Parts: sequence; C-alpha cells; structure tokens
Amino acid sequence: MPRPYNLRERCVTFDVVTHPLPKILILGFGALGAALARRHGARYAFRGVKRTPIASPPCPVVTMPIADDGLVPHLAWADHIVFCPAPAASNPETYRATYLDNMAAVTARMAEHAITLRSGILISSTGVYPESGDASIDETRDLMVETERQGVLVQTEHALIDSGVPYVIFRCGGLYGERRDTFRARLAEGRITTAMLSRQFVHFIHINDVCDAIDLAIRRGIVGEIFNLVDDSPIRRVEFYRFLSALYGIPIPDVGPTPAVVRDRVISNAKAKSRLGLTLSSPRITDYLRASASAS
Ligand SMILES: NC(=O)c1ccc[n+]([C@@H]2O[C@H](COP(=O)([O-])OP(=O)(O)OC[C@H]3O[C@@H](n4cnc5c(N)ncnc54)[C@H](OP(=O)(O)O)[C@@H]3O)[C@@H](O)[C@H]2O)c1
Repeated sequence: MPRPYNLRERCVTFDVVTHPLPKILILGFGALGAALARRHGARYAFRGVKRTPIASPPCPVVTMPIADDGLVPHLAWADHIVFCPAPAASNPETYRATYLDNMAAVTARMAEHAITLRSGILISSTGVYPESGDASIDETRDLMVETERQGVLVQTEHALIDSGVPYVIFRCGGLYGERRDTFRARLAEGRITTAMLSRQFVHFIHINDVCDAIDLAIRRGIVGEIFNLVDDSPIRRVEFYRFLSALYGIPIPDVGPTPAVVRDRVISNAKAKSRLGLTLSSPRITDYLRASASAS
C-alpha cells in the first residue's frame, strides 16, 4: 500500500536538500569551538581541527596540525572558517607559530588551491592595542607595536586581511564562562599577588557572547570588518582581584608593591552592539562570577 502523500514531510525534505546548513570549519578546536558547536549546532554544520583527540566532541573533529597539507579538503568543504588556535606556552616562538605561521599556511593553501570562502573569521585579542593608549579605544585605533607578542597578533590580522579572504576580526577580551573560569584556582595557588594589583583596566567577554557575535556576522553576511568584543564591565585590575578575593574568601599574598600604571585604556564595545547587533548574554563578569559562586 503506498503511503498517503504528506505535504509537510515533503516540504521538510525539500528544505533540507535545497538549503543545506552553512559549513563552518573551526581551526584550533578548544573551549570556544566546543561552545560554538553546542550553542549554534542547529544552524550550521561544524567540523573542528586540533592536534590531539578529545572525548565526546559536539561535532566531528579532525586531528591534525592546522599547517598540515591534509587541511586542503577540509578548507574546500567549508563556507566559513573560524581561526582560533591558542598557544600552549606564552613564549614568542610558540605565539608566532600558533598565530602567524598557521594563518600564513591556511591563506597560502587557499590561494594555491583556489579555495574561496564566504568568510574567514579570526579570533584575535584586545592585546593588539598598545598598553600605553588612553581613554576609549575603538576599532579605528592605530596599532602601534610595543611588544613582540602584540606584534605577532597585529601581523596575524594583516596576514588575513592582505590574503583577500573576506575577513571578520574579533578582538576579544579575556574569555570567561563555562569551562573557562580559572580565577578561583589562580587565587588558591597564590598566582595572584599584591604585585599584580595595578590600576589598569582589564576587559573580559563571556564565551557565549563570542559565539553569538560569530553567528551574527555570518547570518548578516558581514565581512571586511573588525569588532572589539568586551563586556560592559571594564574594571580596574586591583578592583577585580579584590572582588575575587572577597568572593572566594582567599587572601591575596603580599609580595610587595604594584607597578604604577600611567594610562587609563578602556576598550569600547559600541561597534559590536550597533553594527553587529550583539546583545550581551553576560554584561558584567562580576555578576556572572557572583551568580556562579552562589550556585555552587
Ligand atoms: N583565553 C583568553 O582569555 C583569550 C582572550 C582573547 C582571545 N583568545 C583567543 O580565543 C581563541 C579560542 O580560545 P579557546 O579558549 O578556545 O582556547 P583553547 O581552549 O586553548 O583551544 C585552542 C585549541 O587550539 C588547538 N591548537 C593549538 N595549536 C594548534 C595547531 N597548531 N593545530 C591545530 N590545533 C591547534 C588546541 O588543541 P591541540 O593542542 O590538541 O592542537 C586547543 O584545543 C584563541 O584563538 C585565543 O587566542 C583567548
């Protein structure tokens, strides 16, 4: 007996065939990649790339270095890439290899194999801005290079922009959120000391808000733009560390005075809100940490 015609079923099938999900390749699949695949898994097909295997990833993960030749078919599969590897050590060599050399390898492979993307999204950092800046810093600020690590980040951004790939660059503050909250452990291990209580402003962004910014940029077809991603709570480092100490009841070891900081650098998130339409799910890191502490 043939099954009766079911219009609803046919429409669903038709949709899936003619409008496949946009494909996103995440280069450097870690905390951010996993959060993105979990949060927006219904809207995109994700594939991750990292060097070492992980248990139960939320999407297929290819284990290979980003600079490997074997990346070519995965790049050819993708509509968008999210470039977000993080260095395992903070020395300048590892920094350069992780960001600049990998970005150079990816853009060279795309050029060599005539691979085109709808967008190449770089997760950069507010660390591109010189420490000696003052007042409100927006995305048009000149990137005067003061340190080697900052120089590597700036060159990585340029490598993407100069490659001709339609780019989006997100300059993120310190990431926080599920699986990223190491503040209590750092205090408990004595890694936050009085010598670090400077008056400089620090900036953070919840990992879910980075995921939402990526989703918005893709859905709105935004390319050729740079966005700062920081939450609404620029806070002086001294106030933030004292807040943590009071929240967790862990004293800050006294190892002597703090270096004086001359400039008040506050990074603006106005463009992410206006041009991208980002609504922060977590506007203030202090509210988030307070709520997490009382829930645990
Ligand atoms: N943490 C912050 O506060 C902060 C602030 C601003 C911007 N960011 C940026 O945000 C992005 C996402 O950070 P995250 O929290 O997701 O970092 P994460 O959890 O440390 O993940 C990064 C992943 O990159 C992979 N990786 C590193 N080198 C690689 C290579 N050569 N080839 C392939 N995979 C490589 C690592 O896996 P394997 O070791 O297995 O390869 C790791 O899983 C990073 O680009 C980071 O620089 C972070």
